[in-house]
Amino acid sequence: MHRITNHKEIIDKIYEEIITGDNLGAPAGYIPELAKVDPNQFGVYFMSTENDTYGKGDWQTKFSIQSIMKVLSLSLAYQMLGDSIWKRVGVEPSGSAFNSLVRLETDNGIPRNPFINGGALVICDMLLSQLKNPLFDFLSFVREVSGSDKVYYNETVAQSEASVGYRNIALCNFIKSFGNIDNDPNEVLDFYFHMCSIEMDCQQLAHSFEFLMDGKFRTKNGSSVLNLSQSKRINAIMQTCGFYDESGEFAFKVGLPGKSGVGGGIVAVHPEKYCICVWSPNLNENGNSHRGMKFLERFTTETELSIF
Ligand code: DON
Repeated sequence: MHRITNHKEIIDKIYEEIITGDNLGAPAGYIPELAKVDPNQFGVYFMSTENDTYGKGDWQTKFSIQSIMKVLSLSLAYQMLGDSIWKRVGVEPSGSAFNSLVRLETDNGIPRNPFINGGALVICDMLLSQLKNPLFDFLSFVREVSGSDKVYYNETVAQSEASVGYRNIALCNFIKSFGNIDNDPNEVLDFYFHMCSIEMDCQQLAHSFEFLMDGKFRTKNGSSVLNLSQSKRINAIMQTCGFYDESGEFAFKVGLPGKSGVGGGIVAVHPEKYCICVWSPNLNENGNSHRGMKFLERFTTETELSIF
C-alpha cells in the first residue's frame, strides 16, 4: 500500500505557496457573524490510519463548521433509522446551489440529497423525532465522534443566521407543504441553525471523520458509528454531492470524498489512508473555501494520493 512518509514536508511546502499567494473571495457575507471572521487565517490538520498526525498554521483555532455538520447529522440519522431515510431524501447531485429551491416543486418535496440545505432540514426533522433532547443528544454524538468534550454550539452565530435565515425558512416551509417535514418548521430550523453553529478546530474536525476513514469504522472510544456499507455510502454521497455545484470540479481536481462549509472549512477523506481538514474563511462563488480547494488540489497531486 502506498504510504505517505513525507506528508510534513509536502504540507509545509504547499502551505507556504498558498499563504504567500492570493486570498481571493470573501467570508460568507449572508450570515453577519461569519462576515466578521479574519479572512487571513489558514489551518491544516492531517491524520492517517497509521496514526501520523500533523497540524499547520491556525489548526487549533475554532471556526464555524456550518454545512460540514451535515455529514454528522446524516450519519446519526442513518445509524438510528437505517435505509428508511432514503424514502425522504435522495442521493443525486443537485447541480445547483446549496440553498436552491427550484427542484423541490417538481420533486414533490423530496430534496435531491442530504447535503443541500433542503435535504439537511429533512434529516434534522428525522433527528428531532428520534432524539429525546435533540440539542444535547446531537452535541453528545459530535463529541463522541470527535473524541473531544470541548465542542460547543455558538449561540451568537445560531441567532445571527436565524435573524436572516429567509431562504432556509422558505425551504423548510415549502418541504412541509409536501408533507416531508413532520415537526414544527420553527423547531426544525432552530435545531438546524444550532447544528450549523458548532465550532471545532481542524484537529477536532478531522477526528470527527475518523469513522469514515478507518477500515474499522469506529470512533476513538471504540464504539461503532456505522457499518462498513453505510460508511461507504456516506463517502459516496460526499464524493458526488459534498461541494454542491462544484462537486464535479472537486472530484476532477482533488479526487477525494469531502465536505465543505461556509465557515471556510473542508474535510476530505481517503478511505483506509488519511483524513485532512483545511480551513480558510474566504469563499469562492460556490460557497467553498478558495484556499482550501487550492490546498487540497495541490496535496493530492504532490502525494499522488487521490482515490482515482
Ligand atoms: O444554511 C446555511 O446557509 C448555512 N448554515 C450552511 C451553508 C453551508 O455551509 C454551505 N456550504 N458550503
